[in-house]
Amino acid sequence: MNADMPWTAVDRYFETRLVRPDAPLDAALASSRAEGLPAISVTPAFGKLLQLLAQTVDARRILEVGTLGGYSAIWLARALPAGGRLVTLEVDPKHARVAAANLARAGLEDRVDLRIGAALDTLPRIEREAGPAFDLVFIDADKQNNAAYFDWALRLSRPGGVIVVDNVVRRGAVADADSRDGAVLGVRRLVERLEHEPRVSATVLQTVGEKGYDGFLLARVLA
Ligand code: SAH
Ligand code: DHB
Ligand code: MG
Repeated sequence: MNADMPWTAVDRYFETRLVRPDAPLDAALASSRAEGLPAISVTPAFGKLLQLLAQTVDARRILEVGTLGGYSAIWLARALPAGGRLVTLEVDPKHARVAAANLARAGLEDRVDLRIGAALDTLPRIEREAGPAFDLVFIDADKQNNAAYFDWALRLSRPGGVIVVDNVVRRGAVADADSRDGAVLGVRRLVERLEHEPRVSATVLQTVGEKGYDGFLLARVLA
């Protein structure tokens, strides 16, 4: 549906010149497709943006909610220095199995801790483990739970850390105050919570590209 749109051609133009083909990333998308996973990984351009953000905050510890086939996880894990760690949470065992193979193919298995289970069940354990705070959190799972995931992200992040939430615009549906769509309600609940949250500074950027019209939220955790 987006194949003939100018923004798809624009994504291709910039990806060709700035993002570059990469065997493990291409293989992760190919195996996700072959295994029948939904084609909802981040775009190459957004994967690289996540990587640049992680590098910009010198991330040593990254948390991802929603692994799918590990495509965004590869981008994020590659931003880590030696000894850094990506913890990524996935509810679907099949998605996790595909992701584990893709991360191994990318040579990243030693840097990535893939945990299977509903994130609201696996997050409390991460807190109990009391590891170092996260420098970057990427929330990209079931949208109804966005506000709960954001609360966890805030609790587990260091001051100055960054939280990114994918898919907050959904073809503009987010602006419909009468929407009954669970994903839209999940985003609106998060945004309305952030309106009164003094501990973060946040903004949203709308995006258009090969995945259509959407957007992401970027928040910085204050001291
Ligand atoms: N970040 C991935 C895409 C994630 S798609 C990428 O860009 O490559 C969303 C993923 O969240 C799916 O794999 C889905 O199974 C997972 N998910 C849905 N509900 C979840 C939950 N409650 N806990 C953890 N993962 C969940
Ligand atoms: C959907 C989920 C995503 O994380 C995404 O980036 C695009 C679409 C979805 O569930 O439709
Ligand atoms: Mg997404």
